[in-house]
Order: sequence, then C-alpha cells, then structure tokens
Amino acid sequence: MNKRRGKKIAVLTSGGDCAGMNAAIRAVVRTAEFYGMESWGIFRGYEGLIDGHFKQLTSRSVSGIINLGGTILKTSRSLRFRKKKFRRIAVNNLRKRGIEALVVLGGNGSYRGAKKFSEEFKFQVIGIPSTIDNDIAETDLTLGADTAVNVALDAIDKIRDTATSMERIFVVEVMGRDCGYIALETALAGGAENVLVPERRFSIKRIAEEIAEGNMRGKISWIIIVAEGKAKAQDIAQQITKFTSLQTRVTVLGHIQRGGRPTATDRILGARFGSFAVELLQKTTESKAVGIKSDKLVAVDFSQAISSSRSILDVKRYFDLVKILT
Ligand code: F6P
Repeated sequence: MNKRRGKKIAVLTSGGDCAGMNAAIRAVVRTAEFYGMESWGIFRGYEGLIDGHFKQLTSRSVSGIINLGGTILKTSRSLRFRKKKFRRIAVNNLRKRGIEALVVLGGNGSYRGAKKFSEEFKFQVIGIPSTIDNDIAETDLTLGADTAVNVALDAIDKIRDTATSMERIFVVEVMGRDCGYIALETALAGGAENVLVPERRFSIKRIAEEIAEGNMRGKISWIIIVAEGKAKAQDIAQQITKFTSLQTRVTVLGHIQRGGRPTATDRILGARFGSFAVELLQKTTESKAVGIKSDKLVAVDFSQAISSSRSILDVKRYFDLVKILT
C-alpha cells in the first residue's frame, strides 16, 4: 500500500446539514489515521475556515457519532467565502498550519465555493456530495437524501391516518429547492394521489377535475405532495378549494426532513464516501468531487458535479406510476 505518511488534511461541513455527515467525518478521520495522516476539523464550514476555528481530530474525537444526525463540526452558509479577500484569509489559515488538502461535505453552493477556492490557490479539495435534495450531478445519491425521504415518509404515513379517517384532502409540502427527488420518492412510497415537482408542469384545474372524478368513484381522501421549489402548499390548497369547494388541510414538513438518525444507507454511504475521499488524497494531488454510480465510487471534476441541477429520477415514469397506482 502506497502510504504518504504525514500529510495533514482538514475536513469541514458546509451549507444545509444532512444525516450521514457524521458518518462521513468519522470515516475521513479514521481512514486518514490508517494512512498515517493528521486530520483537522474546521468548525462552521467556510466561516470557520476564515475565522481559524480549527481543532485536531483523532479516532477518539469521532467515536459514538455514526448514529447521530446533523454534523458535529457545525455548518453554515457563508456569504464571506464568496469574496476573494476572505478566501485568501482561508487559504492562509490552512497553509500556516501546514494543511495540504481539504475535504468539503456540502451541496451545490459549497461545491461552487470549493471549485473556485481550489482553482484560485491551487489547493487540493475533495468534495463529498451532501444534501437532502439529491441534486448533484455525477452521483446516483447524495448523503442525507435517503434519511430525508424516510423522515418525510414517516410523517406522510401519519397524515394518511387522519386524512383517511376524516375523509380530507391534504396538501403536504416537502423540501427540494430545484429538484423533486424527495417529493417523487415519498409520493410513490407513501401512496400519494398526486405530486408536484419543479421538473414538471401541472394544471390546478386538472387536479381539481381528478379530485371531482375520484369523489364520484367514492374516493374521499387525498394526499398531494408538493416540492417546495414548485409551489407553496398553502396556495395549492386554496386553489383546490376554489375549484372544488372542498375543504383542504396543509402540512409543511420543513426542517424535520434535515434531522433524525441517519438510515443504514446514509451511514454506509458516509463511510464509503469518507474513506474514498482520503484514498484519493493518497493517490492524487488533483481536486475532485466523489460520487457513487451503479454502486461504484467515482471521482469527477467539480465542474461536472455542478454542471446541471438535475433529478436522478426518470420524472415522467415516477409521475405516471404515482397516477397509475392512485
Ligand atoms: O440543504 C438543502 C435544503 O434543505 C433545501 O431542501 C431547502 O430549500 C434549504 O436547504 C433550506 O435552507 P435553510 O436551512 O437555509 O433554510
């Protein structure tokens, strides 16, 4: 095994937190230790990088965290990091500690920052795709998306109990800024009657007609999932009432989708991504974004990972299936 002993690396979490980040941090630190590297944790994402909030991490610092949601390193959406003068402070903070490479766990915005930073200062950065939205290219799955779907699904199952009992129409808003992943997955898994996502147009008149037709067939409760990036659940509910004269109820699931114990999928993904990131640091001095495709770990350029905001799902097929199974 080609061990580059002594390389110092740092790890940070940036943007919206997600379940599985801790599993990935643990894997980074322990794999680094395995290869004889020294790991430093940076607190509060790029903000901590600018402010010099660093702490050395050992295998012991990351024990007992694999099952925890959120991130032990804390996170932030840094506006300062968009400015070159702060990125310069950040790189100096790394260099003066002798740190040669940085592992960034984050989503699209964090990746854009990582790309700029690595190109500007020729500083090696490895990205681990971490966002509940699952909207990063060149990976089948991002960290946190599976847990978010399961948290939302648990809530939707509970909503169905009351929707069925009281024969009501519920409009449930899930997260997903530009991508309908959570909405489509939960709609199919939760047996929802309709789903509105950013990738697809909808007609409120058609939804109202379907509800009216359904009522004629004796269908009396409805769950309509709306991705936050498509519309506000409250608006959709009001329009349904306007067209059908039926009462509606609204649930906005919000940030509960970001929390909770990571699922097995997210813990395993975190472990694999974290270890792979450190193995890349062993093998190359290039900056890369890691991913998983057909169960194989891959490394691509940041520009590929942020090339498009896309849905990994075949939206039409998912949507058609939701409708067939209604
Ligand atoms: O991290 C992704 C995400 O949860 C999106 O689904 C959502 O639109 C956004 O973050 C919410 O951001 P914030 O926590 O800053 O309100």
